Amino acid sequence: MTDFSTIYKLCLLTVTCCIQACSSSSRCPAVECWLVQDHVSRRGATTQEKSLLHIRTDANSRDAASEQIPSDINPDRVFFITDPAATLCHQSLSPPTRGSLQKAQCEISPFLHQLSKLKWVAPLTVTGFSPVYLQADWFSAALLGLNKQLVISSIMRAPTATKEPNVILSVSSKTVSIQARLGKPVLLDCGFWVDPSSPLSGSGFAVEWRYQFSGKGRLVLAYDGKTDRVADTQEEGATLDFEGLHQKGNASLILQEEVATGTYICIVHLPYLQGQVAVELEIVEPPSLSIHPSPLPLAVPGQTLVVQCEASGFAPVSLELSWEFKGADGKSRPLESASVTGHRQAWDGTYDQSTRLELDTSNLGTGGELTCVAVHPGGTRRASTSLSVIGFGSPSIEDSMAMVGVALVLYGLIKFVSWTFSSSGTDVADKVEKKEK
Ligand SMILES: *[C@@H]1O[C@H](CO)[C@@H](O)[C@H](O)[C@H]1NC(C)=O
Repeated sequence: MTDFSTIYKLCLLTVTCCIQACSSSSRCPAVECWLVQDHVSRRGATTQEKSLLHIRTDANSRDAASEQIPSDINPDRVFFITDPAATLCHQSLSPPTRGSLQKAQCEISPFLHQLSKLKWVAPLTVTGFSPVYLQADWFSAALLGLNKQLVISSIMRAPTATKEPNVILSVSSKTVSIQARLGKPVLLDCGFWVDPSSPLSGSGFAVEWRYQFSGKGRLVLAYDGKTDRVADTQEEGATLDFEGLHQKGNASLILQEEVATGTYICIVHLPYLQGQVAVELEIVEPPSLSIHPSPLPLAVPGQTLVVQCEASGFAPVSLELSWEFKGADGKSRPLESASVTGHRQAWDGTYDQSTRLELDTSNLGTGGELTCVAVHPGGTRRASTSLSVIGFGSPSIEDSMAMVGVALVLYGLIKFVSWTFSSSGTDVADKVEKKEK
């Protein structure tokens, strides 16, 4: 990170604090944390104790030291951390407001520095170094901000038994949990900061990105910043912004196409030290729908049509398929009696699934629009086709009764008219006959 971004952060922080009623004594939040320790003497038993991290950006400001220690925390478990880059001052790590259930997560534990044999890390330690510097209490802290806004891994050095560690290396990411479309480029954020006053800072760094999914892992990319070399195991389509990496500690991974659901881990190596953060990537790809047969054949009333709707290329697997029918009245209504097949996984990790509808056309009038609806985390998709029902159906009982009624009335009318005419006709004929006589 540049001086500029540090200054920017500090300014922002100051402004924020002044807005918050100018209580300038605590510029950075005190973070509640779990102190997790393995006890070699107790056969590797792990203990977890409540602890508190007071954070300051300047070792000379003793403000934090004056703060009260909550009664449920052992004063021996309180750390006074100096973090000049203010990475640990992020607002997402602030203590929760009253009543909120969510909290930032934090864990601090002793850190064992060691020599790495990895090809891209080994060059960092060829010259060998001051063991005096390494002889100290080293800690590693892992923090997760509220709403997964930020994840941080900090490696800290405290002069032996002081409980006043200085951040030497911070690795952080703002894309703790990210969604991507299939085949679309994605940026996995990762940045690091090294204390420039540390003797380790001038000796180079290495960056490694690993991928993990359901128990299996592989190397995505490894870069030795000291010799400026990328390991040849690099995956296609994965790259770093090397300029930004050297100038600003921007170790973000740019994935061009080979994007897959899983955990990507950004590891930053310094000689003897390393910090790492994990980023969860999920491919979210809505389905494409197709209806078969399309177009639908003309149907006669009472005929049952079998219609299929296939949803393909979607991920993750959760999908709800249903059917709707919109008749001449323009109203949509759901259709039942569809069966859904099990899903199949395609080579690219996406899924296929289909639904089969047995459509009874007797109550669908002259037809309308048939729609297949797929509800998916990536969005709702619809596909429609039109349905035509031809010919008249057999009339209902009410219709038949009415028709019989009408027929009877007509019959009566005709009878009456013809009787009237024929009887008056006879009268006239009678008169004529009488005159002739
Ligand atoms: C890191 O580099 C990537 C790729 O160039 C860029 O998109 C991103 O904004 C950079 N991040 C920061 C914090 O500068």
